[in-house]
Amino acid sequence: MADRKVDRLKKKISDLTPESVNEIKNFLNELKYQGFSDLREFIAHLESRDDLVRVQEEVDPELEVNAILDRLARNDGPAVLFENVKGSTLPILGNVFGAWRRVSWAFASEDFNQLVKKRSDSLATIVTGRNKDILLAAKSVGFFNKIRNLRKAMKATDWRKSYAELRESASMLPIQIPGKEVPCKEIILTGDDIDLNNFPLIKCWPQDGGKYMTLPLVITRDPETRGLNLGIYRMMQIDKDKLCIHWLPQKHGNRHYSKAEAVESEMDVVVAIGGDPALEMAGVFQLMPPVDEFMVAGMMKGSGIKYAIAEDSDLWIPAGAEIVFEGVVKPGERVDEGPFGEFNGFYSPVKQTPVFHVRKITMRKDAIWHAATTGMPITEIHYMSKAMERLATEMAKIFFPNLVDINLTYESGTLYTMVVSITKSRIYEAQEIMHFLWSFAAQSPYVTNLIVVDDSVDVHNLGEVFDAICRHARTDADFIITPRGLADLEKPTTSPRGVGARLGVDATEKWPEEGIREVPLDIVEPNSDIVRNIKTRWKEYGESIRDVAVRVNGTALTIIVSLKKQKAYEAKDVISYFREMTAGSNHGINVIVVDDDINVHDVFRIFWAVSVHVRPESDVYFPMRRVDDQQKGLYGFGMDATTKRRDEGMVRDVPDLIKMDKEIEEKVTRKWHRYGFR
Ligand SMILES: Cc1cc2nc3c(=O)[nH]c(=O)nc-3n(C[C@H](O)[C@H](O)[C@H](O)COP(=O)(O)O)c2cc1C
Repeated sequence: MADRKVDRLKKKISDLTPESVNEIKNFLNELKYQGFSDLREFIAHLESRDDLVRVQEEVDPELEVNAILDRLARNDGPAVLFENVKGSTLPILGNVFGAWRRVSWAFASEDFNQLVKKRSDSLATIVTGRNKDILLAAKSVGFFNKIRNLRKAMKATDWRKSYAELRESASMLPIQIPGKEVPCKEIILTGDDIDLNNFPLIKCWPQDGGKYMTLPLVITRDPETRGLNLGIYRMMQIDKDKLCIHWLPQKHGNRHYSKAEAVESEMDVVVAIGGDPALEMAGVFQLMPPVDEFMVAGMMKGSGIKYAIAEDSDLWIPAGAEIVFEGVVKPGERVDEGPFGEFNGFYSPVKQTPVFHVRKITMRKDAIWHAATTGMPITEIHYMSKAMERLATEMAKIFFPNLVDINLTYESGTLYTMVVSITKSRIYEAQEIMHFLWSFAAQSPYVTNLIVVDDSVDVHNLGEVFDAICRHARTDADFIITPRGLADLEKPTTSPRGVGARLGVDATEKWPEEGIREVPLDIVEPNSDIVRNIKTRWKEYGESIRDVAVRVNGTALTIIVSLKKQKAYEAKDVISYFREMTAGSNHGINVIVVDDDINVHDVFRIFWAVSVHVRPESDVYFPMRRVDDQQKGLYGFGMDATTKRRDEGMVRDVPDLIKMDKEIEEKVTRKWHRYGFR
């Protein structure tokens, strides 16, 4: 494999382009390391790349650590090892995945995007059972029967390719290590020696309900099939030997628990801190059983993940783990969890979650604690989720070959707004992909807004995406609203029962059968009367409008208004106000209303507000403009992206936005250089 690549690179040397230079650099870097089996190896690698800072200054696990991690992740900062943690002898490692390059390195790669593409073949092999005939033949009973079937299968398939694929897949399968050889069993604690207070769980945000494990690898088995699952679900400490597990209903851990609960049985759970960084990253992948995280982590990394068996159950533990908590969850036992500062910028509501009883702790003598951070995007959890997006894109292509790319937008917390591009091959295919994606994986129904564009549009360039919406999406036909469905409970507009609406926008170019082909609208000139009129006249509305920005693209004009709402549904009045002001123009007019604490020029925050506050069934207003009587197309929309009140149909209060205490922020600013950061 390497030889072929070397030959190819040698050829390229005679004709060096910047891309080939990069490819050579990446290949040489990848040659230097073949992946990391635990955090120590990864720390050494990060240090060799000058991407880890050791902090000797004492830090407080209550708020200070997270304030630092949050700042580092927002500023493309390095990973950090806090060696002097108040109240604990264990160091805390953090911000490991708070930059895309480190996400890539975790898989022994220089570019995770390229890696996923490279590995998509192996994925297809697993998912489609491509080598099924050869495998079936190999399993036939009887020597002569086996030979005959193998010969038949080899003739029918490209067996050399199959053999190479199978060999590659096999080399990536997990490898079992004898229990006594794994360092995370150097110390074993039971009974009264179990005390979670000796570990540096962190309190992340001021209103959090308690101290948390923020990067636990929670491992369970399906009580029926015995299939294994590893997921990252935060855990809040409730006692010296108990934590609650925040696994959402759709997650595999919870599904396993429901099955155990249905037969009133306890369920074994192990929780690992640390391990092979590729396996830690795989904790965020949503996979469909029987494919599990150990397998996919190995496949992505290119070599098998090492595991051992837990002390008191048949659960696997990562051989590279730092600490393993073994225990059980009991049927029917729930306690309050939260609030917790979430990935969407809000505190999550308090929920009833099961209790994990720690019965045994096994750990290394010099164990390292590993913590991750989350909060208003973009922070560490969002980079981790982006890795899932890359993998999901390749998996979705197996089932929907016309799919080209996906952007699960950072702005929406990498959940609520997704953009997808397709190579359109038939009419209304955009709608097909919407339905496919909304049901593709356990997490997909929680995508609120799904925008489909043609493959000529770069899904990662939201300016281009917005242009496509303005040009090709007729609000009467291409804004498709599902008024009620499953929705994310953490989203402020979701009802307490977990119900919300979805919006699909078909922003692909329309075919004759689909209606309008040409956009019969006029181009907006940035200095035209209409633009000047809006900019000078908006103040006439009154005190509650604080600021207005006008964005012009092609035939569309988008007015962004920041509003200090004085009464229910005032945003609707504001939308009508601008609609009347622009009446008679032949453009697509959009009006987006946001709260007054949002800067009307901050495109990221506006996009965030639209993603978290707009209820598609009641906060999207059209028509803004009827164009051309013959074609009957409607372009332009109004969106109320302000925080919703109870008298606007909300059945619960919108939770508080996450905000760090001012004193902590000041302390961190003051000590920044003392910590050792540049
Ligand atoms: C740092 C971090 C924290 C997370 N916390 C939670 C959580 O508390 N609850 C949850 O259900 N998912 C959480 N997730 C997302 C899950 O790990 C992810 O959806 C994963 O696919 C779940 O595994 P499963 O599909 O096998 O259930 C978190 C992810 C990360 C990266």
